[in-house]
Amino acid sequence: MEDRKKEGRYGRIYKQLSELVLKSNNTQARMATIIAVLHHKMDYFFWTGYYLIEDGEMTVNSYQGPVACQILEKNKGVCWAAFNRKETVVVEDVHAFPDHIACDARSNSEIVVPLKNKAGGIFGVLDIDSSEKAAFTEVDAHWLEKILELIWS
Ligand code: SME
Repeated sequence: MEDRKKEGRYGRIYKQLSELVLKSNNTQARMATIIAVLHHKMDYFFWTGYYLIEDGEMTVNSYQGPVACQILEKNKGVCWAAFNRKETVVVEDVHAFPDHIACDARSNSEIVVPLKNKAGGIFGVLDIDSSEKAAFTEVDAHWLEKILELIWS
């Protein structure tokens, strides 16, 4: 999808989500709602979900799409890279990323955004895969980071 079209789509999703999250103060309810809206409104999202750190392990949380790996091997792959670097990672071709963890062979590109708590500590990541190559740009990074702030709004 072209960046200009993405901008319009994310703008509408952000408005819808900012109203939806106000209906509950429950963190998990807000997180799950964000995933459902993103996955169904963005047609290039093939897998959309969270991995959270629990007892030192990166464990899958709410998600939409094909069945995923339950636990990601420590310090391998894109999710761990984003968590360790404390920044969003955009991968144009997952097959060229060292140590990429392939939960589903149909994934070709990926974006991973750190999940921050109210105090700014990182407790997990938002992971989105696409079956298209180079599906994600700075536009996705900007809006997804902004959308995740709605968990605490
Ligand atoms: N590809 C990810 C693993 C999670 S799945 O894409 C759902 C990674 O390399 O961390």
